[in-house]
Amino acid sequence: MKIAVFVSGRGTNLNAILNSPLCKDEIEVYFVVSDKANPPAFEIAQEHGIITYSLSKKDKMNSFSFDELGKIFLDTGIELIVLAGFLKLVPESFINLFEKKIINIHPALLPKYGGKGMYGMNVHKAVFESGDKISGATVHFVNPHYDEGSIIQSEIVDISGAQNPEEVAALVLKSEHTLLPKVVSKFKNGELFNK
Ligand code: GRF
Repeated sequence: MKIAVFVSGRGTNLNAILNSPLCKDEIEVYFVVSDKANPPAFEIAQEHGIITYSLSKKDKMNSFSFDELGKIFLDTGIELIVLAGFLKLVPESFINLFEKKIINIHPALLPKYGGKGMYGMNVHKAVFESGDKISGATVHFVNPHYDEGSIIQSEIVDISGAQNPEEVAALVLKSEHTLLPKVVSKFKNGELFNK
């Protein structure tokens, strides 16, 4: 199954998919896309010989629109699109091309701590300050609104021992790296169509 992964930063979730035994055989990360011109995650892609596309206008040589990517993905037979730390909103026209084939991983237990502006450390600060003893990661289908698509699976993490938001982030990121490959593998096996 050919998939495309969208990133904005480090790419540790991309790395988790590339290195997971669950994804090793039948899942091929065929494209890596970013809203940035050259995020660190592109280095991971290039190490694996994966084609990268940028939506950024900064890189004239490698700047693509969602419409152009949609056509490329359909021609290539991309079956799943994974937003892994992608911080931009996906246009409705693109979402409609790939109904129930775009998933996102969010570093909290949605529907709590989601929505516009709730990304990265903003999430973990809010969770830490709330005094919640648990947090976690959620994978959901993508709709035109931030973090509002139907939830596929989440993983709960005990953060009662965390001393600061950075420790919450580290605990949650670890759970993301196990949850995301599991969900990608379930999608490949056709286990997600009833969500
Ligand atoms: C992850 O915490 C993810 O949940 C959030 O952004 C972060 C991306 O991290 N959407 P990485 O680029 O995969 O390391």
